[in-house]
Amino acid sequence: MHYDPRKKNHGLPHDPFLSLVVPRPIGWISTVSRSGVVNLAPYSYFSAMCSRPPHVVFGSGGRKDSQRNAEETGEFVCNLATFDLREEMNQSSADYGQEESEPQAIGLELAPSINVRAPRVARAPAALECQYIKTIDIPDEQGNPISHSIVLGRVVGIYINDQIIRDGQVDLRGLGVLSRLGYTEYGVLDTIFAMARPASTQVKSGHGG
Ligand SMILES: Cc1cc2nc3c(=O)[nH]c(=O)nc-3n(C[C@H](O)[C@H](O)[C@H](O)COP(=O)(O)O)c2cc1C
Repeated sequence: MHYDPRKKNHGLPHDPFLSLVVPRPIGWISTVSRSGVVNLAPYSYFSAMCSRPPHVVFGSGGRKDSQRNAEETGEFVCNLATFDLREEMNQSSADYGQEESEPQAIGLELAPSINVRAPRVARAPAALECQYIKTIDIPDEQGNPISHSIVLGRVVGIYINDQIIRDGQVDLRGLGVLSRLGYTEYGVLDTIFAMARPASTQVKSGHGG
């Protein structure tokens, strides 16, 4: 089949697009509101965009609390979600009011970050402390805003649980790092293999992908 997403003429009961961009990492984003409420929500429109210096993005469908807090306070933290945190991750996506704190509501322990005020999820094996840089608004075909945005952040602090550093490398084996697939499906990182870049490849500074 072939379809035009502008016409939504796929003829399937559910939009297949999101099951084709997979697996998506989950940025489990903690922020603090201007009034001091800690917010936590998962975002699978999330990725690293540059490694030297490290930068990340997340995409928000509407100006949700995470985007608003990042913009207003200039900070956010991306926590790594694992299989044993899957229920809490999912719970934190529920509709909580602006003045409600998801971690408090679901009883999830937080730990202080070092370089930003927004805390991290204590049980997450890694967390990226970010400074908000800018929001890129996604326009429709006529160039009008559709209230979907990409939030760009610079990573200024990185927490790694020492237990996952083995032989000088981050070793994610056995952690069950979660990824988002289409529909209601998720994946767990369970097969890892190594492959060296071709001998002639010049790895240019700043492009580690
Ligand atoms: C695994 C998962 C991934 C999600 N990814 C996104 C996303 O990339 N963008 C988005 O706008 N909402 C996403 N959502 C929905 C938000 O988590 C949800 O709207 C949440 O209430 C937003 O919280 P906030 O207002 O505290 O930021 C996702 C939900 C789940 C369960």
